[in-house]
Amino acid sequence: MTPFVNLLELEALAKPRLPTAVFDYFAGGAHDEITLGANRRAYDAIALRPRVLVDVSRRDLSMTLLGQTLAFPVLVAPMALQRMAHTDGEMATARAAASLKTVFTVSTLSSVTVEEIRPACALAPWFQIYVHQDRALTEGMLARVAACGYGALVLTVDTPVLGRRERDVRNTFQPPPGVAFANMMAGTGATTGTSERDSALAMYFAARHDASVTWKDLAWLRRTCRLPLVLKGVMRGDDAKRAADHGVDALIVSNHGGRQLDTAIPTIRALAEVADGAGPNVPVLVDGGVRRGTDVLKAIALGARAVLVGRPVLWGLALDGETGVSRVLTTLRDELDTAMALCGCATLSDIGRDLVVT
Ligand SMILES: Cc1cc2nc3c(=O)[nH]c(=O)nc-3n(C[C@H](O)[C@H](O)[C@H](O)COP(=O)(O)O)c2cc1C
Repeated sequence: MTPFVNLLELEALAKPRLPTAVFDYFAGGAHDEITLGANRRAYDAIALRPRVLVDVSRRDLSMTLLGQTLAFPVLVAPMALQRMAHTDGEMATARAAASLKTVFTVSTLSSVTVEEIRPACALAPWFQIYVHQDRALTEGMLARVAACGYGALVLTVDTPVLGRRERDVRNTFQPPPGVAFANMMAGTGATTGTSERDSALAMYFAARHDASVTWKDLAWLRRTCRLPLVLKGVMRGDDAKRAADHGVDALIVSNHGGRQLDTAIPTIRALAEVADGAGPNVPVLVDGGVRRGTDVLKAIALGARAVLVGRPVLWGLALDGETGVSRVLTTLRDELDTAMALCGCATLSDIGRDLVVT
């Protein structure tokens, strides 16, 4: 087991374990990586106002979300091609999330099939969907996900086109041999590169992804798949309101970890507006730069029901497979527990906006 004390150390520890192109694909963001850095710094700019002399001898971090009870409010964000980090890939991530009683969100572009991952999960995993131009392909994917018992459908809405990730362009990023978009093996050819100097992912998106998806398509999605629908990548209050009006079941405030629109607002700064727009009946989650238990507490104080964590999971996976991912999630959970105690909160519902100064 590679020792680490906190999630901020992980990237440097994982770097020597990975080929440069894989490390860059995991770590990088779009263009100048302004949003990538700002997501993290924005948390540091929020100060806490602890409440004292509260009985915090017993603390409860559990919560319910879309019909499932999670042990603590941290889910695993969808991330493509996890077998590039460790041979067990998504299987290890699923097992770690299962052992800690939280939800794993499986990417459309996972390197293990949705059917193989499902039995490794204790809570019903969520499935993140990218809509392909070939709607029949997407409908087939959704039928498979519903048939094997996923818990929600997460439509990523911040990616009509792929952000330009310059590290991947420089590296002409390709998944290494033996790692592929496992769900897509039937029908798309998927990861084969061309002689052009661009990343394989960028070319895949340009060729197959549907940039024409609008609010109108939510009805088609709902008809095609009866699972609760979550929109990932909502950054504005007016879009949040529109989503609520369309009957969306939950929202994720996300800028894709700074991988899409560079200089987009840091997610924690967009959260309160989105939560207000969504109203009381649509749970709002947030991801991007969550690395500390105090970050989770700040997100909840500003209106999130839960957070998702991305890259640290990949670093944990690269270091120690399932054990590494478990350690990442446990560290965040334990830090949140401490932060709650020190802020005078025994349960998540004790965490309110009064605890933060923005
Ligand atoms: C390597 C990598 C692959 C990703 N793949 C996907 C994906 O397939 N679908 C998706 O909706 N988001 C994807 N994301 C974005 C994450 O779901 C999440 O929004 C982001 O990583 C959160 O920020 P954080 O890494 O700072 O925690 C990916 C992120 C990374 C780092």
